[in-house]
Amino acid sequence: MAYVGPKDAAPILLEGLQRLEYRGYDSAGVVVSSKGFKVRKVKGRVADLAQAVPARFKGTLGIGHTRWATHGEPSDVNAHPHLSTDERVAVVHNGIIENATELRAKLEADGVVFASETDSEVLSHLIARTVEETSSLEEAVRKALKSVVGTYGIAVLDAERPGEVVVARNGSPIVLGIGEKEMFAASDVAALVRYTRQVVHLEDGELAVLRADGFHTFASGGLETAKEPLTVDVEAGHYDTGGFEHYLLKEISEQPETVARTLRGRLDERFHIAHLGGLNMDARETRSFRRVKIIGCGSAYYSGQIGAQLIEELARIPADAEPASEFRYRNPVVDPDTLYVAISQSGETYDTLAAVQELKRKGGRVIGIVNAVGSAIAREVDGGIYLHAGPEVSVASTKAFTSTAVAFALLALHFGRVHDLSPADGRRIVDGLAKLPDQIEEILKQGDRIRDFARKYAGRPSIMFVGRVRGYPVAREGAQKLKEISYIHAEAYPASELKHGPLALIGPEMPTVAIVPDDELLDKNLTTLGEIRARGGNVLMIGHREPDAKLADDAIVVPKNEIELDPILLTIPLQLLAYHAAVALERDVDKPRNLAKSVTVE
Ligand code: AGP
Repeated sequence: MAYVGPKDAAPILLEGLQRLEYRGYDSAGVVVSSKGFKVRKVKGRVADLAQAVPARFKGTLGIGHTRWATHGEPSDVNAHPHLSTDERVAVVHNGIIENATELRAKLEADGVVFASETDSEVLSHLIARTVEETSSLEEAVRKALKSVVGTYGIAVLDAERPGEVVVARNGSPIVLGIGEKEMFAASDVAALVRYTRQVVHLEDGELAVLRADGFHTFASGGLETAKEPLTVDVEAGHYDTGGFEHYLLKEISEQPETVARTLRGRLDERFHIAHLGGLNMDARETRSFRRVKIIGCGSAYYSGQIGAQLIEELARIPADAEPASEFRYRNPVVDPDTLYVAISQSGETYDTLAAVQELKRKGGRVIGIVNAVGSAIAREVDGGIYLHAGPEVSVASTKAFTSTAVAFALLALHFGRVHDLSPADGRRIVDGLAKLPDQIEEILKQGDRIRDFARKYAGRPSIMFVGRVRGYPVAREGAQKLKEISYIHAEAYPASELKHGPLALIGPEMPTVAIVPDDELLDKNLTTLGEIRARGGNVLMIGHREPDAKLADDAIVVPKNEIELDPILLTIPLQLLAYHAAVALERDVDKPRNLAKSVTVE
């Protein structure tokens, strides 16, 4: 976060850093400039940093940072900002400098003494060298970055230029906030919305110089670029807990509204189609694709698996999902007849962005399903669908997951209706989608009951999740949510695979959460439950009817929709189960250990 303007920078920076806390971090620091630098850095929370900042920490220009350790342990010294030895240059950095070891060795050979173990500190020393030979800080930063390999979003101060801050981006987001006679920069709009809604996103390779009266952006070659500010439709209130104990519970509870927002204006009752203007694709082009390939990471990938099934079922186009983090490294064959779909809540996940860039470089047609408006992935793709789910703050994704699945249902309906999906089936899906918000509301009413199950199972060291075909990605997402926030070990398996190995794990100590929708595979799923119970395993069934007591110990019954859309509803109890298990185990629900909200590093 950076500030330049007429006000005291420190309170603004601390407030901005607090807004970014949800992304996960282990230390924090701030520097303000006024006749030299004043610096404070602490291991711990932004509140600890605020305590460490004295009243006379004055300066109207400053930068601040929350660090998530990659090189060197979390400590006061390793926290950013990092200063050059002569204390002329101060830098904060997100990302990873891949050639840091080599750069550090060269600098040390020249007599530079490093204060920290971080990769980031090389930046302050490199810029300190170029700043003496150049006529502007922007030029000094640009020159220094020429020797840097890796990803960065940086903000730089020069103690001898007390009116400006330079920021640069390569792979890690930088957003400028345009105020009235004051300028801001941050890695996320969350830090800016209290001050301004006018923002400018930097592209990879771009730099910007911010002064109180304006900003200039430059390409890596030094030529000035023209950028128009964009108005973001989020407010500071979106980043509050709104009276809920945790952001996660707030976001789970918001889903009737967020799903309604994803659907708003997109359902056509007359032709039983979906309106998706953002795809930038006419009917002829829509018909021309022979395959759909979906990429995303973590929960985004699991929602992509739901999406692939929806597209195959409704449009009869072969579709599959793959983790973007794997896809980008396996030199994928890019097929002109395939439509690629990239999914990301944040729109900044580095692996997904890199996969999109690789696809585009090879001439692939890529659309995005993204929540964060104006984010890097949203800007990179050829068209797409915005979720309109509002900011998702808790590290564990919930409302973005369901909205992504809904967006895929819209996409599948759209593709289906330009292919062979009948008007009657189109109507069935349109009506089913319209029912979702009320049905989610019904499931949320079971919160107390689900909390009781969560307390019952939270003491177990390991939980199995199973599902068949449509239920399998639901099981994967359920296991992901549980392990991510409660730290209970969880495995997800296709129910059909159980007897090919994992059944050996089943016994009284290992309960199973089984996804059992009322579909054509119901009998097969019930047989699986019988196999688990025969081995002494407890079963919590998530389905559409109360099971026979011989087949399940407990059950959560959710409202029935169309079979293709049921996975969206079956996910909701699993979110609540994970949430209440995490609360029962007194975990840091919104900021689980070792995780960050936006993974903007490789
Ligand atoms: C979800 O609960 C996780 N925190 C994580 O798997 C997340 O979905 C993944 O990192 C992708 O994030 P994105 O949607 O912002 O790209």
